[in-house]
Amino acid sequence: MSTGPVDPTTTPAWASLSAHQAATTPDLAGWFAADPERAEQLSFTAADLFVDLSKNLVTPETVGLLLQLAEQTGVLARRDAMFAGEHINVTEDRAVLHTALRRPPGASSALVVDGQDVDADVQAELTKVFAFADAVRSGQWVGVTGKRITHVVNIGIGGSDLGPVMAYEALKPYAQAGLECRFVSNIDPTDVAETTKDLDPETTLFIVASKTFGTLETLTNARLARAWLWAGLSAAGVLADDDEARKDAVAKHFVAVSTALEKVAAFGIDPANAFGFWDWVGGRYSVDSAIGTSLAVAIGPDAFREFLAGFHAVDEHFRTTDPARNVPLLMGLLNVWNVNFLGAHTHAVLPYSQYLHRFAAYLQQLTMESNGKSVRYDGEPVTTDTGEVFWGEPGTNGQHAFYQLIHQGTRVIPADFIAFATPTHPLVDGEADVHALFMANFFAQTKALAFGKSAEEVRAEGTAEDVVPARVFSGNRPTTSILAPSLTPSVLGQLIALYEHITFVEGAVWGIDSFDQWGVELGKKLALEIAPALTGDTAALEAQDPSTGSLIRYYLEHRAN
Ligand code: F6P
Repeated sequence: MSTGPVDPTTTPAWASLSAHQAATTPDLAGWFAADPERAEQLSFTAADLFVDLSKNLVTPETVGLLLQLAEQTGVLARRDAMFAGEHINVTEDRAVLHTALRRPPGASSALVVDGQDVDADVQAELTKVFAFADAVRSGQWVGVTGKRITHVVNIGIGGSDLGPVMAYEALKPYAQAGLECRFVSNIDPTDVAETTKDLDPETTLFIVASKTFGTLETLTNARLARAWLWAGLSAAGVLADDDEARKDAVAKHFVAVSTALEKVAAFGIDPANAFGFWDWVGGRYSVDSAIGTSLAVAIGPDAFREFLAGFHAVDEHFRTTDPARNVPLLMGLLNVWNVNFLGAHTHAVLPYSQYLHRFAAYLQQLTMESNGKSVRYDGEPVTTDTGEVFWGEPGTNGQHAFYQLIHQGTRVIPADFIAFATPTHPLVDGEADVHALFMANFFAQTKALAFGKSAEEVRAEGTAEDVVPARVFSGNRPTTSILAPSLTPSVLGQLIALYEHITFVEGAVWGIDSFDQWGVELGKKLALEIAPALTGDTAALEAQDPSTGSLIRYYLEHRAN
């Protein structure tokens, strides 16, 4: 990729899309009535995912113009550069190769990037992770007093937390009984305290997950956990009061995942108990690397392999499918349409699956850390809006909370509905199949959002005239429906890869670097500068701006003890 970004707003396709938007009044009911093939023509499959785009505010002409925009902004060339390992993360001068993490073993042609045999390295590390997972699962790995591990606590934050916890929650039915994973991320000491309060140090294993092994929150929590381990073992009378014994306890109760293995050793974790990955894996793209070790322990190597195969199936779909049927490409372009032409500021992701209750939180980092940028990768300012706010909660809970605004508010809120045909728990309520009832809600919501309810329909129900306006639903509220047979490890991998590539497509159109995250640095630096002001350094306190200084003084005056 030697060429710079194309300003999307200067392309002929952009001008055509602007004119098309101005000339088109959204009319989903009319469009469906006029074209009986619409649902079929705008529904696609990617691996096991069935994706219906037909309830979006697009016509075939819109889709054609969006595909032209992709062509004119070089999205597919950039995609190919990513898969080939070119340094498309320009500001950090790195390859972006999370797709290499899920290439199947024994791929027909080797992937060599920057002189590194990527496939061989990935498989070698996976072998180590799987051996560790098997050892914990079988009881071969025991704590310092010889007891079997019952609890694994992943300590990490951002990409070193959100992916593992989301996937663990999603795949709980696949987890080994008697082995529970927990997750500590926040530097609020409450997190470590609450997570460990009912655990037995003799049967608890910590995984310290940090790409850089320099993250304040993670290292602080790791030290708190280590102190908790030593204190608990001492209180139980099973830890001798000497450094060798403490070191031995750490060796049996701490492993690490990082790209900075020398820092792991400095923390006191035996490098033999550390799993690595590479700088070409972004934190928010790392759940399928060794960062997923907690998940591998929970669900086991076979299921983890299925998880990776799911990612790979969608990678291959994105890499090889014709643009007109390429689901991540189409969904990414639709997001551009919604943001830049329909004025959407946010995007809801609404899984009809309780197991996906952390999916939106996970997607927030993936999408917003990737595309929350106002300069392009050549350093020039962007010329149009970028990264929308992603948010969401599982249905049906959201229906009784925020759906009101999606149905009748003044803003365009595109929403992705995700559900699975086969329930994990096929429960019945008397005669009623509860999953069917759940799914009826999914279908009802997307239907109501698309087609609404007219004043005539409201009046026909005998509604008093003065209340009619409040009970009208405008319809024409865009949704995408994503269905899969069931929530398996493979399907979860497919869903994650789908959103990774959607995020990529949006960033590629906008000409931004979706793989750096400089926006998180300033706050980290200032926190370290401010910390002394909270512990008696008056010069540091005086150096603050008036607002920050007054907030710190309030804190100091009101802090008990
Ligand atoms: O601060 C943001 C960030 O760098 C994320 O990109 C990353 O996922 C997270 O911090 C954690 O970083 P690390 O894995 O290096 O501890």
